[in-house]
Amino acid sequence: MSSNSLAKALMNAEVSVGQCEKHGEYKSCHIVYGTTDSWSGCPTCAEEKVASDRMAEFEANQREAARARMERMIGYACLPPRFADKTFDTYRAESEQQRNYLAKCQAYAADFPDHLKTGEGLLMLGNPGTGKTHLAVATLNDVITRHQTQGLYTTAARMFRRIKDTYGSREETETQAIDAYTKPALLVLDEIGVSFGSDAELNYLFDVMNERYEQCLPTIVVSNVQPGELGQWMGDRVVDRLRESSKMMVFGWESARKSLGRNE
Ligand SMILES: Nc1ncnc2c1ncn2[C@@H]1O[C@H](COP(=O)(O)OP(=O)(O)O)[C@@H](O)[C@H]1O
Ligand SMILES: [Mg+2]
Ligand SMILES: [Zn+2]
Repeated sequence: MSSNSLAKALMNAEVSVGQCEKHGEYKSCHIVYGTTDSWSGCPTCAEEKVASDRMAEFEANQREAARARMERMIGYACLPPRFADKTFDTYRAESEQQRNYLAKCQAYAADFPDHLKTGEGLLMLGNPGTGKTHLAVATLNDVITRHQTQGLYTTAARMFRRIKDTYGSREETETQAIDAYTKPALLVLDEIGVSFGSDAELNYLFDVMNERYEQCLPTIVVSNVQPGELGQWMGDRVVDRLRESSKMMVFGWESARKSLGRNE
């Protein structure tokens, strides 16, 4: 029915009193048009329906925006695809120590807003294949999704390469590259000790860690080296600050890769 003919039909309409279960009495019009006819419903219900449809649409838009934001954040975190499934749910805690570390990391992620005030981080050391990267990435994933905050995963080698790639580059300055690692609320810095540890690298590491330390931004440092050897790979200045600001976890058990019979 066009609005014009609807207006005409309403003008000549018979009127009676309708009864709405929710809103009580209302003026109902008998609308006859061609061979069909109907009585108009409760106008307050009609208004409410419009408002609730609008609200539902608004909420759907909000959910979509939140989902897109979350996807971008996980994208920013630069998690390698092979780590996408490294979550607390997929971590098997079989030994007492594994249960202990899983619980520690879960609590750390849950309390992350507190750690943003103090800058408290985690230091995960131990043998290769013991699930350090798994737990670090699971913690990062949980912090990002639970607190909608920005996080970044990197290996030390990748960080040094990105900073060095700015030498003579027009796309990115050295400062911008360093900022990429000093700005995120949570940084996972993996595989300390794999790269050579030149003086230039130690200086970059100090710049990044010192800036994060001063801004109270937490870092999860992961390494296969022994606690006593850390200074050699990170510099004593960085290690002193780390010890002061981080909880240390030593992964002393056998490699999961060995028990899975895999060689990686
Ligand atoms: N407790 C565990 N539960 C589930 N998977 C594990 C566990 N420990 C290790 N893994 C898996 O074994 C592989 C090696 O672990 P990873 O975290 O890379 O070790 P690390 O960083 O200590 O060298 C990964 O695929 C990881 O997901
Ligand atoms: Mg690892
Ligand atoms: Zn009504």
